Amino acid sequence: MSTATDQTQPNDGTSLPDYPGTRSPRCPFDPPPVQAGWRRADGLPRVRLSNGRIAWAVPRYDDVKQVLGDPRLSADGHRFPQLMETQQHGQPQAFPRMDDPEHSRIRRTLTGEFTVKRVEAMRPHVRSLVDRFLEETIAAGPPVDLVRTYALPIPSLVISLLLGVPYDDHAFFQTRSATLMRKGTSQEERKAASGELFGYLLDLVKRKEREPGDDLISRLIAERVVAGELTHRDVAMSSMVILHAGHETTANMIALGTLALLENPRQADRIRDTDDPKVVAAAVEELLRYLSIAQDMLVRVATEDIVIGGHPVREGEMLVFGVPSANRDNSVFDMADVLDLDRDARGHVAFGYGVHQCLGQSLARVELQEALPALLRRLPDLRLAVPLEELSFRHDMVVYGVHELPVAW
Ligand code: HEM
Repeated sequence: MSTATDQTQPNDGTSLPDYPGTRSPRCPFDPPPVQAGWRRADGLPRVRLSNGRIAWAVPRYDDVKQVLGDPRLSADGHRFPQLMETQQHGQPQAFPRMDDPEHSRIRRTLTGEFTVKRVEAMRPHVRSLVDRFLEETIAAGPPVDLVRTYALPIPSLVISLLLGVPYDDHAFFQTRSATLMRKGTSQEERKAASGELFGYLLDLVKRKEREPGDDLISRLIAERVVAGELTHRDVAMSSMVILHAGHETTANMIALGTLALLENPRQADRIRDTDDPKVVAAAVEELLRYLSIAQDMLVRVATEDIVIGGHPVREGEMLVFGVPSANRDNSVFDMADVLDLDRDARGHVAFGYGVHQCLGQSLARVELQEALPALLRRLPDLRLAVPLEELSFRHDMVVYGVHELPVAW
């Protein structure tokens, strides 16, 4: 039986490199250059995370895949509070911060909603929302901030409709979500945002019990709460996880993906000029690999002494998984720093790997496959409305991207 000794307390370790490191202003799509050095060096680098914790960084593709699939690593926030940004009293644990079997007990109640088949059935609906926000974008500009008019509203509305959360409340949940995604958010702000979001969803769950609709929350109540498998609070927490994970991530992929295509016009032509869904699907996989927006969110604790890539890691030590670095590993992806929409990028780890691999990946794919080509085709003269150097990138957030994307056409 291992103990929850915390080997990750902040120390004065000022000599340790900061994780994830600083990106080069010349290529905002590339991971911080220091990560390429970590990938080439022997062993694992010891790093300081943005919350001051000390961890081993795992920068190589093979190690990331092997270790994320290893049951000797834990994501359990009760057992290892150092994995939690904030301890919330009175809220159930979120399933991404549980280990199996508890994790899979909750996750299983949701997987049916996110199968490829279920999500494909949503595609026509996603397409009509894309068209709606495209028209609204055109009516609002040029110029417009594409994050505000297009990249954020599409996934936000898709996830609201799926869950049964009134989209009229989007300002409420988007601001709380953004607070939780910001690395510099104080404990008090984080607790307040999380408490408000949870309270809001718990009220909604109770309302849906009285007035069910055709949505995920109502289905969870009818199928799982009634059967005694989940409590109202479990449903509120699962909804909070999905709401939070389901729109900021995809929104940043739409915005940063658009920017990467504007900066690589020949690649943009590949998407614009094809009517083959397979070409679009492959292009989306490559953008996911190349951009790897999950820059700072995969953390675990070793529950036993283990060896990673020949390097010993002790029980209780924390690990952070370098998804952006792993996806640029030349031993797996030829000329990995090049955006090549024709390559087969399907082995990427942009959605993580192992039991916690992204639950919403099929949905994210459909949204990207619809949103990116529609934008390029409807606005063939789309261009940045400010120089690239003036853009503000999301170095300060757990999920990378651009804060605003001013465009014209
Ligand atoms: C392009 C968009 C997205 C990216 C890049 C992304 C990335 C990721 C990554 C890297 C993980 C693994 C975290 C870990 O192992 O600690 C993850 C987990 C997760 N994602 Fe996504 N995600 C995206 C979209 C979505 C969407 C649309 C949803 C919901 C509808 C979603 C829901 C989740 C959930 C619930 C988990 C936790 C799964 C678990 O712990 O079992 N994600 N995502």
